[in-house]
Amino acid sequence: MLTIALSKGKMLELTLDVFRRAGYALGSFSTESRRLVFPCPEIGMTFLIVRPTDVPTYVEYGAADVGIVGKDVLMEQDSDVYEPLDLKFGACRIAVAALNGQASRDRLSSKIRVATKYPRITERYFNQRGVPVEIIKLYGSIELAPLVGLADRVVDLVETGNTLKAHDLVEVECIAHSTARLVVNRASLKLKHTVVTELIKKLRAVSSTPVESQASAPRKVSVSRGVRRTVRRTRR
Ligand code: PRP
Repeated sequence: MLTIALSKGKMLELTLDVFRRAGYALGSFSTESRRLVFPCPEIGMTFLIVRPTDVPTYVEYGAADVGIVGKDVLMEQDSDVYEPLDLKFGACRIAVAALNGQASRDRLSSKIRVATKYPRITERYFNQRGVPVEIIKLYGSIELAPLVGLADRVVDLVETGNTLKAHDLVEVECIAHSTARLVVNRASLKLKHTVVTELIKKLRAVSSTPVESQASAPRKVSVSRGVRRTVRRTRR
């Protein structure tokens, strides 16, 4: 039996669609239900519905053998999990944004305040650029922060760009691209090698669309060296 942690929220339906396209019958699964555990014995899987930020924890500690989670979460957390597959859906980018008209170059002499759900990515990014920042950790509705004077900048996910536009914010720079990833517990990879590799093979077969064709084109692409280092570490 494989235990699989799925990210609830925006990615859940897309994830279920990928599993169905890969040939897994998810009969008892309903995203309407309040249930958090869905045993599917007919396909040898049990699905757990967890917050996206908790998926790496479930997988790292072996409470789940496998997880599906955004690259943004993996970059932020640097968890010790194996990341064998880019599922290529849920494409978005982690970007710096500012109020329209206030997107000029960062002031090097004074600290800028940046609101974000991604304090580690943000710190690495601005440190690499030698820009002193005060990071304000928020848990959602990030775009509100510049509007009410809580921050000069935000670092947040941008998918369609509609939320930025709706709050008169503009994208200043793209820090990194993100898509859904399959992550595997390191012990499960050895102990359940056959079923895990079978799952990877089947999901890979239905995840062949290039990431670029699914993502909205960023205005400016600049992946910081700090982020690149993180990407390498999550693949160790
Ligand atoms: C995410 C993100 C942005 C929005 C971007 O928020 O934090 O707010 O989606 O999407 P868009 O570019 O297509 O408008 P989410 O809906 O996950 O809620 P949150 O603000 O509570 O984090």
